[in-house]
Amino acid sequence: MEIKVRPAQLGDAQRIWEIRNEPASLAVAASQEVIPLPRHIDWFDSKYFKQDGNFCFVGEVDGNVVGYCRFDLDGSHYLNSIAVSSSMHGKGIGTLLLGQSVAQLKTDKPIHAEVRKYNLASVKIFERNGFQKMSEDEKNIYYQLT
Ligand SMILES: CC(C)(COP(=O)(O)OP(=O)(O)OC[C@H]1O[C@@H](n2cnc3c(N)ncnc32)[C@H](O)[C@@H]1OP(=O)(O)O)[C@@H](O)C(=O)NCCC(=O)NCCS
Repeated sequence: MEIKVRPAQLGDAQRIWEIRNEPASLAVAASQEVIPLPRHIDWFDSKYFKQDGNFCFVGEVDGNVVGYCRFDLDGSHYLNSIAVSSSMHGKGIGTLLLGQSVAQLKTDKPIHAEVRKYNLASVKIFERNGFQKMSEDEKNIYYQLT
């Protein structure tokens, strides 16, 4: 599968909102709240275009955005959040989107990810991209890439 990974633009905000609100993405999100689109666009603009330090990439297949990969600065590390549109799951896109986004981020800071233990697709993409398990609790596995 050919995927092009590039920094997100403000015009990608709606597509990212759509992917984030698909049932498969919501199921593993920290909050199941569906933010109204105008509020999401304001948040996206402020977070990735008006503040330093946060980065968002998107993956395109045939010119259509099929996933996003965010890196939010949290103290001395980044916290990652990634989702691929469910109609495109299982085609290797998440693995490539994560790997190419990390490469484009070009950071010395550690990247963290919190993965639900039952989320086996997510476990696979982080482990395939060299993330290492730091710890786990009843709910999550905590990964880090250094
Ligand atoms: C996690 C996610 C980004 C992975 O994206 P993807 O494009 O499907 O990932 P890939 O195709 O590169 O790899 C997924 C792997 O998991 C496997 N997989 C998928 N569902 C699985 C399941 N229920 N059990 C075991 N393996 C599973 C796939 O077969 C694939 O492995 P393979 O390449 O050996 O066949 C995507 O599933 C997603 O967006 N999920 C909802 C949001 C989410 O979970 N985000 C991560 C939060 S930490």
